[in-house]
Amino acid sequence: MSDDRASLVPGTRAGRTQGDYAALAEFWTCFFGDRGPEVEAWATLARPYGRRVLAPMAAVGELAHGLARAGFEVVAVDRSAAMVREGRRRFPPDEALTWMRGDVRRLRRADMPFDFAFLANGDLHHFDGFEAQARVLASVAGALRPGGAVGLELFAPAGASWATPPRRFEPLRPPPGGARIWKDGATRFDAATLRLEIEQTLHVQRAGQRERHPHRLTLQLLERDALPALLERAGLRWLAEYGGYDLAPWAPGAATWIVLAEKA
Ligand SMILES: C[S@@+](CC[C@H](N)C(=O)[O-])C[C@H]1O[C@@H](n2cnc3c(N)ncnc32)[C@H](O)[C@@H]1O
Repeated sequence: MSDDRASLVPGTRAGRTQGDYAALAEFWTCFFGDRGPEVEAWATLARPYGRRVLAPMAAVGELAHGLARAGFEVVAVDRSAAMVREGRRRFPPDEALTWMRGDVRRLRRADMPFDFAFLANGDLHHFDGFEAQARVLASVAGALRPGGAVGLELFAPAGASWATPPRRFEPLRPPPGGARIWKDGATRFDAATLRLEIEQTLHVQRAGQRERHPHRLTLQLLERDALPALLERAGLRWLAEYGGYDLAPWAPGAATWIVLAEKA
């Protein structure tokens, strides 16, 4: 298990978050729009496999909760105590939703195996390189029954490097407690290393106080060609690829990239 603030260290490797999830957790959902289509997509992919769903790297568990309400038995796991605390507060555990604090690289659970697991929102890219990502997938695959499946939402790398100038992001949902919040920051992608560097600061104004919460994240994207070998290393077989939450087939330039793989 890792502590929330363990990675507040300059120079941490790709895939590590430098920032304070304790601050981000409270306002995590404010910067997302309607996540209903995501819930529907994961539910559609999970349904043929069964009801027991694992949601590692669940953050505050909005997708996990959506799937629990859609009829699945969901276990939401996150390494951050702050995320799990905030998730339990918003989406209290019940017979359909269980919360656990844990590391996706070392999944253990007595009543495994699960029928389906999903890593949403580019979560696999938090890990640095082929071997680290293969270990995460192997850990997730280890939690599945034979013939169970994993869904991955990945970020497709652009063919050329790019950078956005610093910009401001307003919340898409009203923040709790009457706070005024916004984020600012910049993003850059290096096509040579396939690394996406995100630097943002969350600003919070409430009760006459101003807070600033800087947050830096490096995501390691991967080439599409590398995916079969990555899945194979983890004991998974590539089954299908989708280009949107409507589960339309993937095509170059698709805004979303969802991969479905089965445990061999
Ligand atoms: C981008 S957020 C997840 C978003 C979430 N999947 C969603 O779609 O709402 C990444 C999350 O992964 C968690 N995390 C990072 N490393 C982890 C690890 N090794 N094991 C479990 N959770 C981890 C962080 O605490 C954070 O909540």
